[in-house]
Amino acid sequence: VHRRGLGKKLYIKTYGCQMNAYDSARMADILAPLGFSQTDDPAGADLAIVNTCHIREKATDKLFADLGRLRGHQAAKAAAGGRMLLAVAGCVAQAEGAEVRRRAPFVDVVMGPQAYHRLPEFLARAVRDGGGVLETDFAVDEKFDALPAPAAGQFSANLTVQEGCDKFCTFCVVPYTRGAEYSRPVAGVLAEAGRLAQGGASEIVVLGQNVNAYHGAGPDGESWSLGRLLGALAAIDGVRRLRYMTSHPLEVDDDLARAHRDVAELMPFVHLPAQSGSDRILAAMNRRYGVAQYRRAVDRLRAARPDLAVSSDFIVGFPGETETDFAATLDLARTVGFAQAYAFKYSPRPGTPAAAMAGQVPEPVKARRLAELLAVVAEQQLAFNRAFEGRDVPVLLDRAGRRPGQLHGRSPHMQAVHVAAAPAMLGRTVAVRVERALSNSLAGRLAEPVSARRGAAVRASAADSGAIL
Ligand code: 5AD
Ligand code: SF4
Repeated sequence: VHRRGLGKKLYIKTYGCQMNAYDSARMADILAPLGFSQTDDPAGADLAIVNTCHIREKATDKLFADLGRLRGHQAAKAAAGGRMLLAVAGCVAQAEGAEVRRRAPFVDVVMGPQAYHRLPEFLARAVRDGGGVLETDFAVDEKFDALPAPAAGQFSANLTVQEGCDKFCTFCVVPYTRGAEYSRPVAGVLAEAGRLAQGGASEIVVLGQNVNAYHGAGPDGESWSLGRLLGALAAIDGVRRLRYMTSHPLEVDDDLARAHRDVAELMPFVHLPAQSGSDRILAAMNRRYGVAQYRRAVDRLRAARPDLAVSSDFIVGFPGETETDFAATLDLARTVGFAQAYAFKYSPRPGTPAAAMAGQVPEPVKARRLAELLAVVAEQQLAFNRAFEGRDVPVLLDRAGRRPGQLHGRSPHMQAVHVAAAPAMLGRTVAVRVERALSNSLAGRLAEPVSARRGAAVRASAADSGAIL
């Protein structure tokens, strides 16, 4: 029961990945029974949380800039006789908690990603002792069981099944900030999915830093693969669409390919970061695969699901990257036929091996390579999207669109689709006739009068999605 009557205001600023968005939503859920409701305005908030991400550039600088601003609000609130508690969460808190406490002593709680279920306790302690709380232990197994179920009312809901990573790519902080790879037991995952579906989520996005390394303990005493888990999730009443991310190319196995072949609810999309098209650079990154192996992983999934849309991340300007290495990345980007890809300039993360490597690439070179790669990626995305012009695609309308009168939704292939539709249609899966393809989205119109029965529309399109390309 939510005692919203107490009317305390909670402000959360979230950086980074979907994992963080999920965690922020769980923190809001855990605070709701204490009388906190969320606000977009930090002024006058009773509690402000900055949920940080260590992957993006200048994460620590941005955090201290945010904290500086929040401190102003904190002082204003104190002057008015109130109190604003400040908390820092996420990967920067995990990696640099002591530094945060030192440089920003006005912060009340600093906690790593595995401690969120104890947030109410930390707040109580901060209020009682006034000294500030620092909690950055890794007790991941407790966390999921202790967090409340996600709130209802989302049509596409995230579900974290795995956290942490043991791969130690030389550019990446995740193994240090999120700790060792941990897979949630199957029973808890299925129970949470059931609650999400009952709450109206017809799409479930299965999340993990390295989600296809999933090996959760099954009720049968066996360790379940991601492919097997996806099969069981698909069987849950109300689950019409399944997605998962992020995957590691090395961990693409038969179970996952089989799921793409046999599980109709599993959407034809995979985010499979390649990072580079050069074997030499991949080795220096400690990715543990070569370009040929990456292509084989893609081929294997495509053999199972021929219309699969493949997405990637790339890093340009990794230490030692030559023009020849970069040309190999452009070649990979041109030839795989990516539906979508993200590209980043390499940015040294303190404490990671690559930060100390010789051959750091000058900024202007990185910038030029990024622009070149982004141009190739935009071309590829546009070509992929153009193939849908004139077709009807089933779109799950999940939120308001950019313009009034528009809704936003996703195609099975993860394309963003904008369509003129009434707000009452949110949550439905409808056929959209694609009229125009851009490199980052599709625009279209409702293909047919939509049945008033939501279930009917959803069922029809779940069947459609198998036969789009
Ligand atoms: N520099 C640039 N990009 C990075 N990524 C991770 N660490 C770094 C870094 N140090 C990118 C990778 C990853 C994505 C989430 O962020 O491409 O797949
Ligand atoms: Fe980071 Fe992903 Fe490599 Fe793990 S596999 S170290 S999360 S880039």
